[in-house]
Amino acid sequence: MDASIVLPKTADRKALYEALFPQVEALLNDGSDAIAAMANMAAVLHTAFAWHWTGFYRVVGQELVLGPFQGPVACSRIPYGKGVCGTAWKENKTMIVADVDAFPGHIACSSLSRSEIVIPVRNMGSEVKAVLDIDSEHLNDFDENDGRALERLCKLLSPLV
Ligand code: SME
Repeated sequence: MDASIVLPKTADRKALYEALFPQVEALLNDGSDAIAAMANMAAVLHTAFAWHWTGFYRVVGQELVLGPFQGPVACSRIPYGKGVCGTAWKENKTMIVADVDAFPGHIACSSLSRSEIVIPVRNMGSEVKAVLDIDSEHLNDFDENDGRALERLCKLLSPLV
């Protein structure tokens, strides 16, 4: 199977998200399991947007455990309600943090991270089963448009998690 992704030659994020969505949908539509799907989604997003860190934490008991990711090594466990990831899980909502240094309790896995977005990955019963975490080396790098596009992508994982 040719699993390559075709990226438009544009820096326009909206255009990139629009081009990526059907390709990611097709990529995951292979009877894939959750880990394989998260691994490919992290690879696609990281390649397309060149963020600092792109990856998943999975809900395992009362903590988040590091899942498939692209980028530098990261903390392996995050307690419920801690950091940006644990807060997105607890509050069951997308977190957009313009300046990680201004977020109380932010967990710094890398000193290069300046802003962050975390999207809950819910199962078909709306329970949070994982989070997608993206770190940028630039301040204020994520907005509501990123939130909406990434939430749409994360919904593709719902039948698998
Ligand atoms: N900054 C995250 C921890 C995970 S790393 O960014 C990969 C947090 O505060 O939850």
